[in-house]
Amino acid sequence: MSQLTIKVNGQTVHGNSREPLLHQLEKAGLRPEFQCRTGMCGACRCKLKAGAIDQGDAMAFIAPNEVLACCSIPKSDVDVEFDYQLASLPETKKAVGTN
Ligand code: FES
Repeated sequence: MSQLTIKVNGQTVHGNSREPLLHQLEKAGLRPEFQCRTGMCGACRCKLKAGAIDQGDAMAFIAPNEVLACCSIPKSDVDVEFDYQLASLPETKKAVGTN
């Protein structure tokens, strides 16, 4: 399955089964917390409420119902929840012509 749906904190975004969850959320304009992006620090942990992920060699301590967004690749539609409100990237400013 390539195309799938990622529900995050009640918001739905398009996703895929090829890239880490953190990267996909960033591409959707969201800004989950992160530090190492390699599964070491735990800053990107979130609750997996539904769905399946493939989590590589995560080293950070996480609870049984948590995943590390930086190294978790969705394998189905997923529903995840961060315990804080996700910031959104500012909209790209439109280019202003100069005369
Ligand atoms: S950002 Fe460090 S474990 Fe994900």
